[in-house]
Amino acid sequence: MSSVLTIRGGVPLAGRVTVRGAKNLVPKAMVAALLGNEPSVLRNVPEIKDVEVVTSLLQLHGVTVEKDPVTGDLTLDPTKAKTASHTAIDAHAGDSRIPILLCGPLIHAIGEAFIPDLGGCKIGDRPIDYHLNVLRQFGAVVEKRPGGIHISAPDGLKGAKISLPYPSVGATEQVLLSATRAEGITELSGAATEPEIVDLIAVLQKMGAIISVQTDRTIRIEGVPDLGGYNHRALSDRNESASWASAALVTRGDIFVEGATQRDMMTFLNTYRKVGGGMDIGDDGIRFYHKGGKLNPLVLETDVHPGFMTDWQQPLIVALTQAEGVSIVHETVYENRFGFTEALIRMGANIQVHRECLGSVPCRFGQRNFLHSAVISGPTQLTGADIDVPDLRGGFSHLIAALAANGTSRVTGIDIINRGYERFTEKLAGLGADFDITAAK
Ligand code: EPU
Repeated sequence: MSSVLTIRGGVPLAGRVTVRGAKNLVPKAMVAALLGNEPSVLRNVPEIKDVEVVTSLLQLHGVTVEKDPVTGDLTLDPTKAKTASHTAIDAHAGDSRIPILLCGPLIHAIGEAFIPDLGGCKIGDRPIDYHLNVLRQFGAVVEKRPGGIHISAPDGLKGAKISLPYPSVGATEQVLLSATRAEGITELSGAATEPEIVDLIAVLQKMGAIISVQTDRTIRIEGVPDLGGYNHRALSDRNESASWASAALVTRGDIFVEGATQRDMMTFLNTYRKVGGGMDIGDDGIRFYHKGGKLNPLVLETDVHPGFMTDWQQPLIVALTQAEGVSIVHETVYENRFGFTEALIRMGANIQVHRECLGSVPCRFGQRNFLHSAVISGPTQLTGADIDVPDLRGGFSHLIAALAANGTSRVTGIDIINRGYERFTEKLAGLGADFDITAAK
């Protein structure tokens, strides 16, 4: 049943939270296990919705997924992989975007794949054309069927020379998961190189894949006929870490994020410092805190790695509502990721969204009628409001705005936040937040 969070704002969040494996790696590493001819072990696995969805989809395809009751580590055994019923797969329609990544591994394991209609956050159209083009270039036959897409490869997948029109994270992963066991060499240009992708490459290399990443966004994969299993500790979730960092700033708090890693967050940390946030970088995590003085406005552009990640933008914008002056955020990864600002405006924030590219570099959304640049004027006092969570990162932003606001907020739709923030209400309670959870009427 869905729940309602009643938040009494104004309490600085202080204490410690632990961040585990990355939402944007763990489900994909689980999919990679399907490519092996023996079991794999994945460690540092968070309890989030995408892990449940992929567990269920793998089980439907005959993969045994066992969870260690103490550590939560997963052992995935693909040796009895089999075709699943379309009706059972279809039950997962709309749950997540990860199923599209099962295509290559399923074709290698059982000769075909049926993928339900996809879900994921509503932050734009989120098409899958790059994925389907990539699969076709490997020689796959893609057919639309009721409730989903059927993909087969009568002659097996063959290595290909592929160029992505944009460095898409998912399409790069599609190539990696399809090419490692394809016949011959694959060269991918215009690849995304996010740390989660590099970690997926590490997983595949442990399994026996031959993959090299060049400095010019080219990835070269030499196909091998068979892969073994892996034993891997997932990299930490830098998006969750950045969210708690912004929560510390917004609530004038002090949070030690155990598991936050400097190497994967350098661009975020530079920005956090420019805004005026305090940080102590340690070996096992990073302390993020409000230094007590004013926050500084800034001009920011989201981008693919190593740029400022799109998922960091929403929580940071809440902090920018408290900065002295005018900030500009130009979103260049998704065309429609400012819907969440509407609730912030109702809470008292001064934010305008524009169709123009208000950044140093025009992006592919300019002149196309997308509200993809935001101007934030601060500081403004936020006041509690009724909010229905629109998407994962936008929802977390609403939550921290409510935690900093004067008065009480009533937040519905919080199940969406569980998709990417493990046990977030427990973590909030541990940080001293003042809230109740009740069942929605
Ligand atoms: N795109 C297309 N066609 C495609 C695929 C992508 O036009 O076939 C476009 C998208 O519409 C978007 C851009 O390419 O404008 C980039 O999308 P990308 O494929 O890189 O995103 P994704 O793989 O679907 C992952 C994360 C997102 C994260 C983005 C960008 C997962 C499960 N999701 O999405 O995470 O924002 O990369 O880094 O890994 C989140 O965590 O809240 C989240 C949305």
